Amino acid sequence: MSDVSTVFVTGGAGYIGSHCIVELLNAGYEVIVVDNFVNSVNDPDGGSVALKRVETITGKKITFYECDLLDKNALGNIFAKHKIDCVIHFAAIKSVGESMEYPLLYYKNNLIGMLNLLEIMEQFDIYQLVFSSSCTVYGEPTYLPITEQHSVGHNITNVYGKTKYFIEEMLQDITHANSKWNIIALRYFNPLGAHSSGLIGEDPIKPFANIMPLISQVAMKRLPVLTIFGGDYNTDDGTGIRDYIHVMDLASGHVAALNLLKRSHQNYKVYNLGTGQGVSVLQLVQTFEKVTGTVVPYKIVERREGDISTRCVPISGGGKR
Ligand code: NAD
Ligand code: WQD
Repeated sequence: MSDVSTVFVTGGAGYIGSHCIVELLNAGYEVIVVDNFVNSVNDPDGGSVALKRVETITGKKITFYECDLLDKNALGNIFAKHKIDCVIHFAAIKSVGESMEYPLLYYKNNLIGMLNLLEIMEQFDIYQLVFSSSCTVYGEPTYLPITEQHSVGHNITNVYGKTKYFIEEMLQDITHANSKWNIIALRYFNPLGAHSSGLIGEDPIKPFANIMPLISQVAMKRLPVLTIFGGDYNTDDGTGIRDYIHVMDLASGHVAALNLLKRSHQNYKVYNLGTGQGVSVLQLVQTFEKVTGTVVPYKIVERREGDISTRCVPISGGGKR
C-alpha cells in the first residue's frame, strides 16, 4: 500500500482483535489500540501480553492505551493525539450466559461504549468504521443457509445478541442521517483457531464458554470431560451444526473490509463471515482428536437452553483454512 492508513482498534488485546492486528500490520496499516483488559491479559510491565507477542510476530510497533470506552474523555484525548483514518470496533463483552444474569452490564458496556465511540468519531470527523457484529442477530434461523438478507432481531434469546442487533440498528440510522458515514458490519459465525506461531490464541479472563477452547481444555486434561449439549437434533449425528471460521480468515476479512471502505463509499453494508461448511459438534471433536492425536472424552447431555440446531452461511462464503 502506498498511503499508510492508521486504524484505531478497540478491544484489540482480545482474541479476534489481536489476530486481526497481525493481518492489519502485515497489510501495511498502522494501528492504535485501546482495551480495558476486562477480558484480556495485561502485562505487569504495562501494555498487553497478546499485543507484545503480535509485535514479535510482525516485527512492527503497536501504539497501545489502556482505556475503557465508557470513559469518553479519555477516549477523546487519545483521538486528539493521533491522525486516525478508520476504526475497527471489537470491544464488547460477549458471554451469552453472563448477559442474561447481568443485562444492565451488557447494555451499558456494549451500547454506551459504541455510542461514545461514534460521538468521538463524529467530533474528529472520522466516519470509516468496521463493526464486529455476530450471527447471533439472526436469532433462530427461518431458512438455511443464512444469507445477509435473512431477517434480524426476531427471536434473539439473549441480551448479548440484542446488544449487537441494537448497534446494527444504530449504525443504519446514523448512515441514513449523515451520508459521510462509511460503515461495514461483519457478522461473524463461529470463530476458532489461533495464529500459526502459537504465540497468540484465545486467552480470556472470563471463563471459556465456546466449544473449541473447551475441547482444548479437555484434551489438556484441565477439564475431565466435554459436555455435549444435545444429541437429538435433526442432524446426521444428532449434535448441533455450526459454521466454524478460522480466526486468521476472519482477520483477512477485516483487512478486505477496510480496503473496501478506503476504495469506495459503502454507506452501510453487512457481510456474513463464515465458510459455508456446517460442522457438527461430534465432527469437530473427532477432527480435533485426529489432528492432535489426543483423546477428548465426552458425554452427551440435555440441549442447552436457547441453542439452535443448525447455523451456517451459503457455500459461496468460501473459507480457505
Ligand atoms: P474478547 O473478549 O477476546 O475481546 C474483546 C476485547 O474488548 C477484550 O480484550 C476486552 O478486554 C475488551 N473490552 C470489552 N469492553 C471494553 C470496554 N468497555 N472498553 C475497552 N475495552 C473493552 O472477544 P473476541 O472473541 O475477540 O470478540 C471481539 C468482538 O467480536 C466482540 O465484539 C464480540 O462480541 C464479537 N464476536 C465474537 C465472536 C466469538 O465467538 N468470539 C463471535 C461473533 C462476534
Ligand atoms: C457451538 C456448538 C453448542 C459448548 C456463540 C454465541 C454467538 C457467537 C458465537 C458471539 C453448539 C455446542 C458448546 C459446550 C457443546 N458469539 N457446545 N458443549 O452457541 O453457536 O454461538 O458463539 O457473537 O453469539 O451464542 O457457540 O461455541 O457456545 O457452541 O456441546 O460445552 O457447541 O451446543 O452446538 P454458539 P458455542
